[in-house]
Amino acid sequence: MASHHLCCMLLMLMSVAFGAAPRKSVDVPFGRNYVPTWAFDHIKYFNGGSEIQLYLDKYTGTGFQSKGSYLFGHFSIHIKMVPGDSAGTVTAFYLSSQSSEHDEIDFEFLGNRTGQPYILQTNVGKGDREQRIFLWFDPTQKYHTYSILWNLYQIVFLVDDVPIRVFKNNRDLGVKFPFNQPMKLYSSLWNADDWATRGGQEKTDWSKAPFVASYRGFHIDGCEASVQAKFCDTQSKGVPRPRWRRLRWVRDKYTIYNYCNDRTRYPTTPLECKRDRDI
Ligand SMILES: *[C@@H]1O[C@H](CO)[C@@H](O)[C@H](O)[C@H]1NC(C)=O
Repeated sequence: MASHHLCCMLLMLMSVAFGAAPRKSVDVPFGRNYVPTWAFDHIKYFNGGSEIQLYLDKYTGTGFQSKGSYLFGHFSIHIKMVPGDSAGTVTAFYLSSQSSEHDEIDFEFLGNRTGQPYILQTNVGKGDREQRIFLWFDPTQKYHTYSILWNLYQIVFLVDDVPIRVFKNNRDLGVKFPFNQPMKLYSSLWNADDWATRGGQEKTDWSKAPFVASYRGFHIDGCEASVQAKFCDTQSKGVPRPRWRRLRWVRDKYTIYNYCNDRTRYPTTPLECKRDRDI
């Protein structure tokens, strides 16, 4: 156990020391990597699918998913969130496996009343390791890039290449970490006014529908599960050193909620929080 941990620590230190460059995203059209999942008529395509829009109205939201399944990789997408009054809506971008013991790595953007800030919620697992932050910009004004870097050592959530959360592989402590089940990517826009905005107090104003989220990018650099995932599990290991300062900055200034500090839910500090302190 201890030696396993030491090995991973060394690998992580090495990758930090060598300053693995952040992987570059390659913008490709929607159809290269994704297909619609449901409510096909609520997705609109522009410029040959290099840009799409998801529509939410009182009948339905919509969503799409990746064609491939992946075990590790770097995934990113550019999104312009629902502008104006988006209270009650949730826009999500996440990885999920299909089995009953399923794994998830989530970005969820919780809308708000006009002029009030969105919340970005991230999660690893099944809804029990949430962290919430405010963003340092208005995500409805322009496209911003949201990425997930997932390898055997850690999961890094990035916003415009700034790491906002690092979830390390602490399997040696018995902490669940997705490592053996391929996942697909999903994105969707739906109504969640029972919980999303101010804990469900702000309801979706359907007179403002349709709600529209815009997408570009569609970059996937993953290890296709059908190919040989073993080749990939060591790829893209690190977050380059100077970026850790930005991580600290985001976490100090923008954190709203961190399950690590929630003593009502977790009377004793979860093991991974104890080891990684803040993270
Ligand atoms: C919405 O705005 C209110 C008031 O500023 C704030 O308390 C809340 O955290 C914001 N975000 C969400 C998703 O509720």
